[in-house]
This record gives sequence, C-alpha cells and structure tokens, in this order.
Amino acid sequence: TIIGISAREILDSRGNPTVEVEVTLACGIRARAAVPSGASTGSREAVELRDGDPRRYGGKGVRTALEHVEERIGPDLIDLDARDQKVIDDTMIALDGTDNKARLGANAILGVSLACARAAAEASGLPLYHYLGGPGATRLPVPCMNILNGGVHAHGQGADIQEFMLVPYGAGSFREALRWGAEVYHALQGILLKKGLSVGVGDEGGFAPQVHANREPLDLIVAAIETVGLQPGAEVGIAMDSASSEFYQDGKYHLHCEKRQLGSAEMIAYYAALVDEYPLCLLEDGLAQDDWENWKLLNRQLGDGIELVGDDIFCTNPAIIARAITDQIANAALIKLNQIGTVTETIAAARLAQFHGWGAFVSHRSGETVDSFIADLTVALDTGHLKSGAPCRGERVEKYNQLLRIEEELGTAARFAGKTAFCRPIR
Ligand code: PGA
Ligand code: ZN
Repeated sequence: TIIGISAREILDSRGNPTVEVEVTLACGIRARAAVPSGASTGSREAVELRDGDPRRYGGKGVRTALEHVEERIGPDLIDLDARDQKVIDDTMIALDGTDNKARLGANAILGVSLACARAAAEASGLPLYHYLGGPGATRLPVPCMNILNGGVHAHGQGADIQEFMLVPYGAGSFREALRWGAEVYHALQGILLKKGLSVGVGDEGGFAPQVHANREPLDLIVAAIETVGLQPGAEVGIAMDSASSEFYQDGKYHLHCEKRQLGSAEMIAYYAALVDEYPLCLLEDGLAQDDWENWKLLNRQLGDGIELVGDDIFCTNPAIIARAITDQIANAALIKLNQIGTVTETIAAARLAQFHGWGAFVSHRSGETVDSFIADLTVALDTGHLKSGAPCRGERVEKYNQLLRIEEELGTAARFAGKTAFCRPIR
C-alpha cells in the first residue's frame, strides 16, 4: 500500500534539471526513479513540463512538475496497492485529463509510474524484469551501441545522421557483446586520433568527429570492427538513426555535412545504396515525422531486408502505431517511456508492435540519469535489442551494467538474442 510520494529536482546527463520520485509503501519499502529527457523530440510526444522561469536553469526547472507529484497526484494514489500499475496509471491519466499529459506533465506522471513499479517489484520480492515480464523473461538483448554521434547530439558539428550504432549480434552472450562493443569503440578512437579527428564525445557517449559525408562514419566503423579482428556483417552489424525530422525542411532533406538537399525518393535511394554497401541491419527515422506517405515507399523498398524503426513519427503512442501497422509504413517501433508517459502505455505500445510481428526497440534518451529501468524493461518485454548509447559515460553504461547483472543472476536460464533480435533476419 502506498503511503507516501515525494519528488525532487535532480540533474540529468546534460546538466538540465529533471524529476526524481520516491514512493514509500506501508511495509517500509522505499523506491526511487528518475525521468530522462530528449533533444530530438517528436512533435507528438507527451509534454515534458518545464517551469519557464528564466531565473532558474534558463527556464528548464521542473518545480511545477514536483508540485504536481506531491500535491495533485500523491493524494489520489495514497492507499492504492503499488502492484495495481494500471489503476495507478489510469488514475493519473484521468487526473491529467489531456491526451498528451500537458496539464500535470509527462515528467511528473512518468516519475510516479516508474517508482511505483519499482516499489511493487521490491514488495513482491522479484527483480524488476521478472515482476514486469513474468518468469519467462530470460532473454538478454543485443546492445546497439551508438559509438558515433551526429545531428543535434553533436551540436551540428558532425554527421547529419544522428546515430551510428554498433550491433554485436554474433556474440555468444550479452557479456561478450558488450566487450566487443567496448573493444571496437576503443579501436575507433585510435583510428580517429590517427586521422587527426576529434575524439570528444557527444551526448550519448559516441565520438562526434567533423565529417564531410554521412558514409564516412560507416567506413570508420567498419575499419574499427576489422581492427579488433571481428567480421563486419557476419559478426557485427551497424544500425543508424537518422533522426531525419531534424534536417527535414520544406519537403527536403538538408544534408548539411554533404552540402546538398534530397527529396524523399532521393533520400530512399540514398539509403538503398548504403544498405547495399554496408552491413546495415536497422534504420530508424529514415524519413521525417511529417513524411508519412513516403514512409510507405521506404518500407516497400527496404522493409523486407532490414528493420525500419519509427521513433519521432510514432512517439511510443499505441494509437499512432496501430495506424502505422494498418498503413504498413515501417516494421518496428521505438519504445521510449517518456514519449508516452506511463509504464502501462509503454508496455501496451511494445506488445501491440510485437503482436503484429513488428520489432520493439527499447531506447534511452539523449538526456539520461543513472536510472537503469529500461534495462529491466527490455528483458521484461523480450524485445531482443535496446539502445543505450556508447560504452562510455556513466549514465549510458549503467544500463549495460544492469544487463550484465541480470545475465549473471539468470545464470543458465539466460539466453542471448543474437541474430534473432530483429524483425528481419540478418542478411
Ligand atoms: P533524443 O534522441 O533522446 O534526443 O530524442 C534519441 C533518438 O532520437 O532516438
Ligand atoms: Zn531516434
């Protein structure tokens, strides 16, 4: 039984304030959770409430959200059973009353939702992944490690494509996959240094060198994979998140680092050439959130061969994903808790995708904390893959480290998703 809910303002990995919630149960259990924050956000995301007071944190304070947690949400949840996640989440959704959580704030609502789930798991005496996913939740995901950052995560100084992820699907275990990732990451650092390129890191821990074509990072990563003696394609693949809504303007895709603009059909042809040439297994947000019709074309051309993930275009919203499934515009959905704002709706979004044979790809945000909820969530949902940035920066590696702990705890019951992680077979 919930007897107390409190909130505090803490810092995220970019030095911006975010919400941390603590839930206390009658049995004495206290659980804590922190809310992440995106930079390349979708326009249909649930609303992250910021104070807008320019005297504090440049307007980014979250004191209003804290007040909502303690004074509006808290009183309605006292005496509820923390295990009734759906009742808790539905109560907050009703209390908010908007369809995008604009009144109370998705950051306020999600903090409570996460902390309740964690408290309930503890009260049930179960690890969070078993509490959320049942005893069958034993599959470890392939970590998709964003080792080269571009776009807004590199502050416009690097590639247009926001994320180049290393996908070690050929490893025999999660632990081995993570080691491969760290080794390739360091090999990439060596290659960049030799070329006189910057090895400073972006928001998600990947390097953010200045490049003059979006295929340059792909060449660098293939070289790094080979440097450590692994086989590009057979053992390690590459995934990309274009986050293309960020460079889509007036019906054109503006590739700044290449100094050219492409229409939607040209952009699709551009990806098709990359898919032919490089071991790509996944493309996220290849087209923009406002380019729905052309997504159908993209899916028709590339959807049989690789996983096509919608992030900004779906915003983890079950209603939008349902429409996308009908329209056949992609074959996978990115899953971000704070895009929709409750644990219940996040699980519903993933289950909907999976029910229709789509992939569900769990994701961190570019602004993170050391909260590792998504590591457990990935195992619970059996999604087979997650992205949590490079094997660098504490807030990124904490998710991977939690997965190491889960793999160890599962012992011989643990399975590694490997090449079966994606909704399309590895070519
Ligand atoms: P964001 O980036 O957290 O800044 O939105 C992550 C992504 O686009 O997948
Ligand atoms: Zn994305």
